[in-house]
Amino acid sequence: MSTSPLQIWHPFTQNDDAPPLRVRSASGVYIDTEDGRRIIDAISSWWVNIHGHSHPAIAAAIAKQAAALEHVIFAGFTHEPAEELVTRLRSVVPAGLEHVFFSDDGSTAVEVALKLAIQYWSNLGRPEKHRIVALEHAYHGDTVGAMSVSDDSPFTAAFDSLRVPVLRTHSAYCYRCPVGKNRATCSIECLDQLRNLLEEQSGAIAAIIVEPLLQAAGGMIVHPEEFLAGVRELATRHDVLLIADEVLTGFGRTGKMFACQRANVSPDLMCVSKGITGGFLALAATIVTDRIAQAFRGGARERAFFHGHSYTGNPIACAAANASLEIFATEPVFMRIAAIERVHIERLAKLSAHPQVGDVRHIGSIGALELDVADPGYLSALRPKLYQFYLSRGVLLRPLGNVVYVLPPYAITPAELNFVYDVIEESLSLVSAISN
Ligand SMILES: Cc1ncc(COP(=O)(O)O)c(C=O)c1O
Repeated sequence: MSTSPLQIWHPFTQNDDAPPLRVRSASGVYIDTEDGRRIIDAISSWWVNIHGHSHPAIAAAIAKQAAALEHVIFAGFTHEPAEELVTRLRSVVPAGLEHVFFSDDGSTAVEVALKLAIQYWSNLGRPEKHRIVALEHAYHGDTVGAMSVSDDSPFTAAFDSLRVPVLRTHSAYCYRCPVGKNRATCSIECLDQLRNLLEEQSGAIAAIIVEPLLQAAGGMIVHPEEFLAGVRELATRHDVLLIADEVLTGFGRTGKMFACQRANVSPDLMCVSKGITGGFLALAATIVTDRIAQAFRGGARERAFFHGHSYTGNPIACAAANASLEIFATEPVFMRIAAIERVHIERLAKLSAHPQVGDVRHIGSIGALELDVADPGYLSALRPKLYQFYLSRGVLLRPLGNVVYVLPPYAITPAELNFVYDVIEESLSLVSAISN
């Protein structure tokens, strides 16, 4: 029997989960439900919201654009909101990224990056360079290419027959170091596997894809900057393209506009989405260097990139993105992120002493704690119980299995964030009880 009279099929939802909460409105960090509850959105509605819900400047830009030009085919036509957005993006992305290919969401930005990387080598007459390297614990989205480069997980288990084989190497998961080292004394030995692979097989490899500095859905795993810098150095040395999936980390999440900039790294291709429109509308972009773009220019018609989506470059979404980037240009957004990070540091330091807490991690606006439980992983029995507990206290948190993380809109105040941590602290004293 259906649990929803409207038979809406919700994502990542099992039919015997609690019925969805009906939302009437949202503003700032608060979600207002029809039954009169106010819930703090401590995960930015799946990591998309940055300046707060229903931000008036973005709402106004959307209304204005919708009245002038709602959409037009993006092949053979262009428009001012897209041109403005490309100019704005080019001024904030890592050096060398110049050409912008629009798509709709994080997964499609990743599909575009993978296809561009493979066709790049093919256009250069080197089709044998077609393999992709990806990291353990990676998550890059739910479409087939993005699922292929994502690591094996409950999300991918049913679809192994569809997934394209990729080469997989260690991630810098320091708490569970894949090579048994200790971060205080290590020399990033987790890179050795990638180094050996590239030494042996770079002639067959098109690209390596990474989530720079933070593997998000894999468990909010924060990497040392040296790891990302090392991946860049190895990719350059072996003439393999580096794809940075900044779908989550982009637009200030890690304390810089893009995570790559924290490690002084410029990728060859970069995927952005989520925060690009401030959390209002679906939009994504794959941004590439001139070297990549030139391989698709001129010559035979087959050199073109035969890829596009109906809503590519949607003017309303571009207008929302321009309004969001204008907020970065005119408001102290990075000071807000720094204030969030200070609360993470202070509260996580205290929580780390709790016997249930195995590890604490933070980077920029994101704080996480990994709980030591008997059944770690996304399907940990603890997770639905914690989720309901947090909601009962008026906080939206969706633990990744045994990893509880806080990823709020930058509009959150220190007092509100401290309240979120109070609720997490309260949940820890219950963890042993509710996990039984
Ligand atoms: C790093 C990363 N890449 C890609 C995606 C997929 O984005 P979307 O859900 O918009 O398709 C996600 C989503 O969480 C992500 O975290």
